[in-house]
Amino acid sequence: MRRRTFLTATAAAGLASFAPRGENQAFAGCGSPGVPLPQPGRDGYFSRWSIGDRAVTLEVRTRVASASVPWTRVFAAADGDRTLLNPTLVVERGQRVDLTLANAMPDPTIVHWHGLANDTRNDGALGPLVARGASFRYTYEVRDRAGLYWYHPHPHGATAGQAYDGLFGLIEVGDDEDRALRKALDVVPGESELVLVLQDRKPGGAYAANNDDRTHGHFGPCLTVNGVERPQQTVATRGYRLRILNASNARTYRLAFSAANGARVPFTLLGTDGGLLASAVACREAFVSPAERIDVHVDFSALAIGDAVTLETLAFDPMHVENAVADKAADPHAGHGAAASAPDPHAGHGAAATAPEPHAGHGSLAEGVRAPVMTFAVRTRAASTGRVPATLSSLAAPVTDGAMERPLRLGFAKGRWRINDRVFEMGSFPIEVARGARELWLFRNYHTSMPHAMHLHGFPMRVLARETSPDFIAALAVDDRGRLPTDLGRKDTVLVWPGETVRAVVDFAHPWRDPQDYLVHCHNLEHEDGGMMLGVRVA
Ligand code: C2O
Ligand code: CU
Ligand code: CU
Repeated sequence: MRRRTFLTATAAAGLASFAPRGENQAFAGCGSPGVPLPQPGRDGYFSRWSIGDRAVTLEVRTRVASASVPWTRVFAAADGDRTLLNPTLVVERGQRVDLTLANAMPDPTIVHWHGLANDTRNDGALGPLVARGASFRYTYEVRDRAGLYWYHPHPHGATAGQAYDGLFGLIEVGDDEDRALRKALDVVPGESELVLVLQDRKPGGAYAANNDDRTHGHFGPCLTVNGVERPQQTVATRGYRLRILNASNARTYRLAFSAANGARVPFTLLGTDGGLLASAVACREAFVSPAERIDVHVDFSALAIGDAVTLETLAFDPMHVENAVADKAADPHAGHGAAASAPDPHAGHGAAATAPEPHAGHGSLAEGVRAPVMTFAVRTRAASTGRVPATLSSLAAPVTDGAMERPLRLGFAKGRWRINDRVFEMGSFPIEVARGARELWLFRNYHTSMPHAMHLHGFPMRVLARETSPDFIAALAVDDRGRLPTDLGRKDTVLVWPGETVRAVVDFAHPWRDPQDYLVHCHNLEHEDGGMMLGVRVA
């Protein structure tokens, strides 16, 4: 099998110029589709790096975007003769991490380990910013189950640009259950277990957001996987494990696999943000919002040599109904269910003075438009004994005993996205939780809103129910509580649609002596930077 690795010798150069990319048939300025999908190699982008508990350093640098790599900033590391860029940190549950972040770029930064249950100091979000030339040493124990987590900068107000410019990497936490699954599936990372990091980009290099982007989110017409526009992966007639991260600033995908004749290729959902499900779930599609991960198994064994399967994002109503403030009658979900009958204190304001421009998708690829993401070309025959086991992990059912309800209302007023009518203020903690308490969080999104990918730092969430969901979401429910297959696992990010309420239980137990501070925010990075975020103090 041919494989392309992310080996880019120029990556370490600290020049600020940008090399424009080639033309694309579909969208001017995107790359050319069909280039082989890069996978982590020994060196270069996303290389798997078993750091153990030794002291390692990640340096943040600016770099030159090139024809093969669109990003203008990079996390670089050296290990012996290896040069690693945005390395995939391969760690084991229970081990210690000792990692120094060295900032060699002009802007201050701080790095957050998304999904890991760290103390405030090591969460990398509310800590001090690391100035150019300075460094910060993280030391923590990996307390989380096996799964695909990730890291990205979190300097308040500047997260979107730094992440878009290429500052993100994967964290692969391993444990015995995950090793047992690899064995049962007969998969090997980089060969039959592939990572797909999705990011939509505008043509050109570094991040530039206009007012429209700041309200709705930054969307681009170029759909990239591992930094390449609509790549192709050659595969054999066997099963593959795909570990998918949506690293896009704002775009939600409705992912499905389609054969050349248009027939849907079913897949198996193995896991979500926080690791493996208890048992596998057969799926035909999955919504994946920014920061969410899915772990899937796709079987190409019934296909013939020469066949191709497209991973695509299907059409859906993106529900950017934030413009409908003055026109509630136009909201198809108005009038349903509990959330709908609550009076909307924002109705009628905001719109006049600060209504966002209608979101046209920048004349390119609006959210919710069907588009190919990448293709799998069946090229070789293979015999594999791999199969998906009935039981994947020991993940227990969520416990809700004694949980107190806490509503979190998601809305827009006076030109800002808000949680419980508030905009983020550094140093303020409107959510105070008793350490060890179990809480039932009710994420309630207004009708005249847009979908928000709600992320909680420090503590995993378990989704209990979705209520008053839009019809096309309710149609995908797998139980009478309205949950989707992706709601069945451990989550750190959950997408909440306009008019919908998502109930999630969180256990706020932590092992540290002092009170710890965290954040809850929308992972649409423009919403996050714009203050759709609240401090959470667990004392
Ligand atoms: Cu992935 Cu607070 O972020
Ligand atoms: Cu996080
Ligand atoms: Cu949002």
